[in-house]
Amino acid sequence: MAFYSGHCGRLFSTKTLLPLRTVRVSSRDQACKHCSGASRGEYRAEQELTTAGGQRRVLKDVLPFSEFLTDSFGRRHNYLRISLTEKCNLRCQYCMPEEGVKLSPKEQLLSTDEVLTLARLFVREGVEKIRLTGGEPLIRPDILHIIAEMRKTEGLKTIAVTTNGMNLARLLPSLKKAGVNLLNVSLDSLVPAKFEFIVRRKGFHKVMEGIDKAIEFGYNPVKVNCVVMRGLNEDELLDFVTLTEKKPLDVRFIEYMPFDGNKWNFRKMVSYAEMLDRIKQQWPSLEPLPGDETGTAKAFRVPGFQGQLGFITSMSDHFCGSCNRLRITADGNLKVCLFGNSEVSLRDCLRSGASDEELLQIIGAAVGRKKKQHAGMFSISQMKNRPMILIGG
Ligand SMILES: C[S@@+](CC[C@H](N)C(=O)[O-])C[C@H]1O[C@@H](n2cnc3c(N)ncnc32)[C@H](O)[C@@H]1O
Ligand code: SF4
Repeated sequence: MAFYSGHCGRLFSTKTLLPLRTVRVSSRDQACKHCSGASRGEYRAEQELTTAGGQRRVLKDVLPFSEFLTDSFGRRHNYLRISLTEKCNLRCQYCMPEEGVKLSPKEQLLSTDEVLTLARLFVREGVEKIRLTGGEPLIRPDILHIIAEMRKTEGLKTIAVTTNGMNLARLLPSLKKAGVNLLNVSLDSLVPAKFEFIVRRKGFHKVMEGIDKAIEFGYNPVKVNCVVMRGLNEDELLDFVTLTEKKPLDVRFIEYMPFDGNKWNFRKMVSYAEMLDRIKQQWPSLEPLPGDETGTAKAFRVPGFQGQLGFITSMSDHFCGSCNRLRITADGNLKVCLFGNSEVSLRDCLRSGASDEELLQIIGAAVGRKKKQHAGMFSISQMKNRPMILIGG
């Protein structure tokens, strides 16, 4: 059950007296007695104020953010990654175990409606960015419908897609039309034969075509994700940086992370410090760029280059303190940490007829249990987790 506050017009839970929905309020005078009681988190809202000079300004975060999406360390989770499928048309060595993975039966995967219901619920609570991932999201037959419907959700600012690029060139016009704002394309080698060795399939030229077409369609930057592995592609670092000279790309070098079945070992991981050192030997003038508060990448640019580069340093220098991400797996489990194995099934809650409020209580409890930081790469490599392909990066 819920009620509307006459003070601020927000919807409150009668059980918890916590706000359930963000609405716009028009002035500070309308601050509400119910809001001031929010305990664990604060609630997100925007206030429009008219200044003495008559200008209208929008102040963000002047009111509390969703209780349910705020953890016990004060981290606000406004970014949700949804895995749309466990299947993939590639078999990347660092992601897909050699022996393959046991796929969930179709009826155990989230349906189109369930994906949209959960997306809307999270957005209503304050999520502003949703990334669709997988498996390979672009092989899901209803991908365009999901994006177009999601786009209608008020409050959702960004729809991002992470793709291996195999179907990108073909789908780009429809993806753009449906409302995708941000594209990350994975590419681990610029040498076709090596690409095929890493991903265990052919397709290098298709991926390059997808990247070029994304640029043509105005995505700027197009993010390129490159997992760097010693003995495989670390000799291509400089070639990837060179790619940013003439193209508006943001090449992101990702430290190799341990997941079930990917045969991670420390010696294969190339650290941020080592990568940076190698790149600086070639371009000593490499300049750091200001990062956004919750961004994962440490960003740099070679002066005069059109694009930029970044490092995702989850292993050697984690960014757990500013983590704002939650994940939903294709089979409907909420994962509050990429490297944690605690999960809760939102699919089962939905299918048992739980109300939004009951779902929020379950989400809030899981978020509340989120640990301060991951356990460190050596412990993670010993822990049971899913293979990356079944999580969604
Ligand atoms: C799991 S994939 C799913 C989306 C899509 N199929 C793709 O490859 O872009 C998401 C991202 O996770 C990254 N990834 C997978 N396994 C990884 C690992 N062991 N360490 C670091 N990044 C990894 C991939 O490179 C990719 O950029
Ligand atoms: S990284 Fe992406 S493309 Fe490669 S196997 Fe995993 S899901 Fe497929």
